[in-house]
Amino acid sequence: MVKTFELAGLCALFTLTGGAAIQAQDASFGANIYKDYCVVCHGESGAGDGMVGVLFAQPPADLRLLARNNNGVFPAAQVIEAIYGRRSIQAHGQTEMPIWGDFFMSQTLESPTIDPKDAAMITQGRVLSVVSFLESLQVE
Ligand code: HEC
Repeated sequence: MVKTFELAGLCALFTLTGGAAIQAQDASFGANIYKDYCVVCHGESGAGDGMVGVLFAQPPADLRLLARNNNGVFPAAQVIEAIYGRRSIQAHGQTEMPIWGDFFMSQTLESPTIDPKDAAMITQGRVLSVVSFLESLQVE
């Protein structure tokens, strides 16, 4: 499980770089992650109409409206927490949203080409690039 200070650092990093700097480099990487792991539930456009997502009692969030629902500001820290899966721990009850922090971490650790001591950093990079991609989906 990701520790609080790591998450705090990650949020700070995103804020420091303004998202935009990361976005230029990583949005296409993030787009691929999104296509591989998120589209089934959240849909191509992020509207929450993926073919699995429509089956849930609680539909997946419309990921295009994250900024609009937060006074026009993309809530990077909240989004990072949602992806890592921390929010379900704080909230009451279950969520259908998988815990991606743990998933990306174990996937990274399984890779024969990645040094395990770099795994946490690489996992953070993956999460940040998908967050950048989500930022690029925002509508007014
Ligand atoms: C198995 C279906 C499923 C998959 C796959 C999935 N999600 Fe979700 N996601 C949900 C559901 C359902 C919700 C809404 C309920 C909740 O927030 O717990 C949600 C909520 C979210 C939220 C919170 C939005 C808000 O309102 O703050 C974010 C961010 C998010 N997903 C990102 C992702 C990303 C990024 C991926 C791919 C790495 C992904 N999701 C893959 C089902 C899924």
